[in-house]
Amino acid sequence: VTKHKPNRDLEGKKILVTAGPTKESIDPVRFITNHSTGKMGYSIVEAARDRGAEVTLVSGPTNICPPAGVEVIKVETTLDMYEAVMNSYADKDIIIKSAAVADYRPETVSKSKIKKSEGNLTLTLVRNPDILRTLGELKGDRILVGFAAESDHVLENAKAKIVKKNLDFIVANDITEDGAGFGVDTNIVHLIDKNGEIEKIDQSTKLEIAHRILDKVKKFEK
Ligand code: CTP
Ligand code: CA
Repeated sequence: VTKHKPNRDLEGKKILVTAGPTKESIDPVRFITNHSTGKMGYSIVEAARDRGAEVTLVSGPTNICPPAGVEVIKVETTLDMYEAVMNSYADKDIIIKSAAVADYRPETVSKSKIKKSEGNLTLTLVRNPDILRTLGELKGDRILVGFAAESDHVLENAKAKIVKKNLDFIVANDITEDGAGFGVDTNIVHLIDKNGEIEKIDQSTKLEIAHRILDKVKKFEK
């Protein structure tokens, strides 16, 4: 019998992956977040580790246990994630930003619980930094991969993000499709690269998609 030899094609490569949602506190009781469970990002971490990469995971709050043998930095807010990424991107060869980052945070975090009163409550939200866009400005020789979760004009919107954030390619997710997006074990994506090449991946497990993303990363290596 021939033994199946695992593909170790990322040996010697340092990869940074961000995963999960971020969580922005309003007061000691409430917060703003999104439906990301982290499954896609954690699948990339697992696949990259299995292919021999040295993996750093910057993760927002999730219920998933990180794969063994990976450096894990846990964060809550977008500002925390920004700081963790800025502290660790420099020596990386590949950066994959699958986290679903909050674009806005409450202007102030109330130290005491906000009590209800008659009438409406208005929260002021301020912009968070765009982590991926910042990475795009600092790109150098790194391979930079983004995600785009879209509900309409999926390909157009995703393509615009490649340019804006200086990416090699983007993983475009149509969150309205069944068997794709938040919380499910499968996904349906398009890999769109900066040269305009589009690869559709039909419904597959997130781990299979993770391997396809890494196959595409290999094509951008010098
Ligand atoms: N991203 C980021 N920092 C942010 C917002 C987004 O790093 N503050 C990253 C995400 O991790 C993802 C990519 O940018 O890899 C695209 O995120 P997305 O929310 O689809 O795009 P935005 O640029 O935020 O635009 P919009 O939400 O308006 O569609
Ligand atoms: Ca966004």
